[in-house]
Amino acid sequence: MAATNVEVWQHASVVAIDQVAIDIQRIVLEPQLPKRAEPGSHVDLKVVIDGEQDKRSYSIVESSDDGTRLTITVFKAPASRGGSVYMHGLAVGDRLEITQPLQNFPLRIGAKRYVLLAGGIGVTALVNMARTLKDARADYTLVYAGRSREAMAYLEPLREEHGENLVVHVDDEDTSLQVPALLAGLDVHTELYMCGPIRLMDAVRRQWTDSGLSYPNLRYETFGNSGWFDPEEFVVRIPRLGVEATIPTGRSMLEALESAGVDMMFDCRKGECGLCEVRVLELDGTIDHRDVFYSERQQNAATKMCCCVSRVIRTVPADGRERPAGHSLPVVTIDVS
Ligand code: FES
Repeated sequence: MAATNVEVWQHASVVAIDQVAIDIQRIVLEPQLPKRAEPGSHVDLKVVIDGEQDKRSYSIVESSDDGTRLTITVFKAPASRGGSVYMHGLAVGDRLEITQPLQNFPLRIGAKRYVLLAGGIGVTALVNMARTLKDARADYTLVYAGRSREAMAYLEPLREEHGENLVVHVDDEDTSLQVPALLAGLDVHTELYMCGPIRLMDAVRRQWTDSGLSYPNLRYETFGNSGWFDPEEFVVRIPRLGVEATIPTGRSMLEALESAGVDMMFDCRKGECGLCEVRVLELDGTIDHRDVFYSERQQNAATKMCCCVSRVIRTVPADGRERPAGHSLPVVTIDVS
């Protein structure tokens, strides 16, 4: 899923903002160089965090036919590195720098059957896709899983638009998604497109392989911002370069190493391409792999990690007890290419 897009940067004005669920805002942009957004596309956008520019990616939820209006949706993440906080601080009339629509997650028209699987805010990558499949009279189901209805953006409009083609799973209502049951109903002609938390996508990828379904029929989009564990502060050391840095919860290892002057390779910055791989020499803690690049076997080996998204946490004691307060930070000793 490497990007094959040319980035064309432009200015865009914020023309509307409204709340669509708890901590989730819908933001409508009017770009200077309009280009229609195809289903599955996103924009990259410059945000300012602590006075420094950074880049974030947001799926395009809706595009006018001529591309003069693009709608994105932003969840203010509790462990935000600052991007979603910046976005939630925008007001109508503000101007941003954004790319024209970019495509990493294309919809292939012509499959016999489609399942679109959305976990939480991941629905934003699938709203436009579901509309296209409806318009094309395709055989499709949009499966939407979330913690609670209040936290699920666009739930009611999606129900109105897709009727019985929308299947909703809500943790608070004891109707949580059961991945084996979902995949048991699929045949080899079904294509599944998904976007959601890494643990949901991992569960689907594993079950998909175990079920003998065709791997090319499983397509996914990730913005690499969720893990198996809550983020913790940790220390990274590179003895060969004499570098040691503490990574706070709101920052990635890649960002911290760049700030420390280490020459890093990267491309996607969201756990997909593997270019930011670092070799793990020593580990006092556990790696919370947040990428979709490595296989489960590679992740378990804990000899390398994608430093743009993956983190280190304290090792959870085998008997499940909490670590004593004041225990020192987890440490990973690495080398870079
Ligand atoms: S930069 Fe692509 S996985 Fe880290």
